[in-house]
Amino acid sequence: MPSALIHYFTGTGNSYHAATVVERRLKDAGYSVEWQQVSRGTKPPAGSFDLHLFTFPVYACDIPDIMARYMWKLPQGNNAKAAVIAINGSLHPTTRVPAAQGDPGWSFDHAGLILRLKGYDIVLADAAPYTANIRIVLPIPGEAGQARIQELGDRRVAGLAEKLVRGERSVRHNLLLAFLYVPFGLGYGLVGRHFFAKLYVADGKCNGCGTCVKTCPAGVIKLTAGRPGWDWRCQGCMRCINICPRRAINTSIPRVVLLLGILLVPPEWFIAAFSQAGIVFPSGTGGTILSWAAALLAFIALLYTADKAVFLLERIPLVRSVMAINFNWWYRQYIDHSFRKLLARGKH
Ligand SMILES: Cc1cc2nc3c(=O)[nH]c(=O)nc-3n(C[C@H](O)[C@H](O)[C@H](O)COP(=O)(O)O)c2cc1C
Ligand code: SF4
Ligand code: SF4
Repeated sequence: MPSALIHYFTGTGNSYHAATVVERRLKDAGYSVEWQQVSRGTKPPAGSFDLHLFTFPVYACDIPDIMARYMWKLPQGNNAKAAVIAINGSLHPTTRVPAAQGDPGWSFDHAGLILRLKGYDIVLADAAPYTANIRIVLPIPGEAGQARIQELGDRRVAGLAEKLVRGERSVRHNLLLAFLYVPFGLGYGLVGRHFFAKLYVADGKCNGCGTCVKTCPAGVIKLTAGRPGWDWRCQGCMRCINICPRRAINTSIPRVVLLLGILLVPPEWFIAAFSQAGIVFPSGTGGTILSWAAALLAFIALLYTADKAVFLLERIPLVRSVMAINFNWWYRQYIDHSFRKLLARGKH
């Protein structure tokens, strides 16, 4: 009996759902199928499989950082077959407006590249759109729209699964636009994602139930005196903001303003503050590099301190109410139904 291993990372369940569509077809074709959910610190399982399937959401036209790291940790593939299905976000079921279907960018090329370097034989690489989950900034489509988007996504994934079981190679490339996609993805993976959860605030409706803490796949949320706090290692997967049973997590406008304010401080101001404090850097190129490095450290220290200070001040109910001012309280939440059931069984 041929064997397959499904490796998946998901924020709101679409990548898991898409993988179940492939699983059904593989089982019909006589495969035995095992699963590996990727979360913080997951080590790739040992053992050999005839086929590996990788599914993950698309972030900024690229593969999520957590999935890329996991792939780099895989044992050598020894030419085992691997398939990549990137799951991107559709804002509306219409296929007439291309932007409504999102853009998978070079996510599947990037994943394919890592896997090839690890010695896997890529037999399929493609993408399929499911409901866009970016509740931090964009409204989620209604139930009917979600159902139609899922139907279209399932059809696309079922077509890809069919190719897989027939042994038909189908490797799609989007490398022509890579010069556009790579900086976008790198910017998000190296910098942007760290700031996502820093924009979240749990308002007064939060009852400290801990669901967000338990389910965060990156393990970055901690309850302090019954209030969730987010550290800097967020993947931006949107699970916490979409799963909170009290809809208490939203995008804090004051936090956005504070963050933008700090990001816009010119580095020269930090260097001027150093000289006012009597710290003088040597002249020449070495001195300039040193002063800019010191400015960067001061900037990071300011970010960190401001974040801690705001979190402490949010203990005061009035401050918390002000920090909880947001624009997205009325946006629907979105978690794929089959994934919600899996989470309810404690599988996260
Ligand atoms: C931070 C972030 C960035 C995203 N970037 C893209 C993108 O570049 N292109 C796209 O089509 N969808 C993008 N999406 C949408 C997700 O890829 C999409 O909703 C996906 O179906 C989520 O899968 P999941 O439920 O498995 O997490 C982004 C989502 C997030 C949270
Ligand atoms: S899931 Fe919501 S209610 Fe529960 S601790 Fe997190 S923010 Fe609070
Ligand atoms: S903090 Fe929220 S958005 Fe960030 S990784 Fe955890 S669950 Fe995902």
